[in-house]
Amino acid sequence: MHRGPMTAKLMSEAAKGLQFKEPPIFERGTPGRTGASIAKLDVPEVDLQSELGTLARRVPAGLPEVSEPEVIRHFVRLSQWNFSIDTQFYPLGSCTMKHNPKVNEWAARLDGFANLHPYTPDHLAQGALELMVRLAAILAEIVGLDGVSLQPAAGAQGELTGLMMMRAYFKKHGRSPRKVFIPDSAHGTNPASCALNGFDAVPFASGSQGVVEPETLVRAIEAAGGEVAGLMMTNPNTLGLYESAMPKLCQLIHERGGLVYGDGANMNAVLGRARPGDVGVDVMQYNLHKTFTTPHGGGGPGSGPVAFRNILEPFQPLPVVRKRGDVYVVDHDRPDSVGAVRSFFGNFGMMVRAYTYIRELGADGLREVSDMAVLNANYVAARLRNHLPLAYETPMLHEAVFTDRAIEAETTVKTLDIAKRLIDYGYHPPTVYFPLVVRGALMIEPTETETKQTIDAFCDSLIAILGEARENPELLKTAPHLTRLGRLDEARAARKPRLRWSPQAPE
Ligand SMILES: Cc1ncc(COP(=O)(O)O)c(C=O)c1O
Repeated sequence: MHRGPMTAKLMSEAAKGLQFKEPPIFERGTPGRTGASIAKLDVPEVDLQSELGTLARRVPAGLPEVSEPEVIRHFVRLSQWNFSIDTQFYPLGSCTMKHNPKVNEWAARLDGFANLHPYTPDHLAQGALELMVRLAAILAEIVGLDGVSLQPAAGAQGELTGLMMMRAYFKKHGRSPRKVFIPDSAHGTNPASCALNGFDAVPFASGSQGVVEPETLVRAIEAAGGEVAGLMMTNPNTLGLYESAMPKLCQLIHERGGLVYGDGANMNAVLGRARPGDVGVDVMQYNLHKTFTTPHGGGGPGSGPVAFRNILEPFQPLPVVRKRGDVYVVDHDRPDSVGAVRSFFGNFGMMVRAYTYIRELGADGLREVSDMAVLNANYVAARLRNHLPLAYETPMLHEAVFTDRAIEAETTVKTLDIAKRLIDYGYHPPTVYFPLVVRGALMIEPTETETKQTIDAFCDSLIAILGEARENPELLKTAPHLTRLGRLDEARAARKPRLRWSPQAPE
């Protein structure tokens, strides 16, 4: 049958309408339909309404009444429409979206780990406890500190915990200093963690090369007045640059009675090459999901272990797992502890994955991880710097940060448009507009797990997109074009998020 162009267009629009329609599960099904078959009651029936009294639900829960295939298809479809590290290149700077090795998953799913109840008595959980003790010791060694608590569930919670330990330390010594100095390139969680701990976050500018200069810190301390509680330094920083003045910065803080917090979110760039503890950092967090290939998960389950110097050891969170003689025990009797920051031991499955990864690679392998991460980022910079200016020409480590300054002046196309167009080419966009110190930042982190071919294909795409920006800027400004949904109203999504389904139509 011959179809004219108009018919073909209409058909494809109609097909598109049907194909892209995916109402929430609550809007599917029909009253009385069920996906479960429940066995016949073999105990006396109880009137729950009278048993529960005022606790009884007055109106039905409003659960979807759907068949099993409807549920399966709905959620599998949604999962397939997601972007994932297992399907595409994901160069999200700062987030370190590297491949999650499948052997980690195998280890985490071993029956003895996956099905162990957190209340299992110590003597029946020796293997799991031993793994935690071993992992903590390895993590302490990697950063040159004395101990590690594995409990925090994310990098941000690790920061919060480390600062809680600092506060408890000061309190124990009869002090309550308030000022914590934080460079302007820091991740937003740094000042937030300070504020939640009752510290005053004092921002100060990083230097013209993108790294902190000791004189600026001294000026900031003098201008702030008051007692110094500490310094929060991310190293390598969020621009992917190594903070080479760390020994001096730590000295300046220690001389004033403060402690140095190291944001170790970017440790993946310096494994086996630099140890924060050796240059004066007192307490820091890891992000296992960035450095040691555990999955990110939307807002969790992450893991943000905190490493610390001995002076902070009494204040670490509960419970503490340790070896006593030949056995592993869980110690709850620690009067100076800041208390539990997460239920039970933290995200144990992440610990198994990180331990597996570390043991698989060994010391040489971990050093190679960082070397490759740095090489790949520098390769991206070398391939793109003549097309898009770098934010700083300072030699970089694991990520390359570009600015849209030149391309915007030439074409009016901005970082966001480039990022959206990259989706049409099959890539997850890099991080945009972070760090805030860079105008129109585009932060690319290829990670060590990508091949030269993948990185080349990505760079070729980005260069092609910059060509499109010159010839047809509208193409970028209205991108993405090849996705299920086009450009979304991000401002509205941020300001008026609709996070929960309700029968009322949205405004
Ligand atoms: C420098 C830095 N600090 C802290 C965090 C917070 O870590 P999380 O997302 O695990 O809470 C991140 C996250 O990417 C980060 O890049």
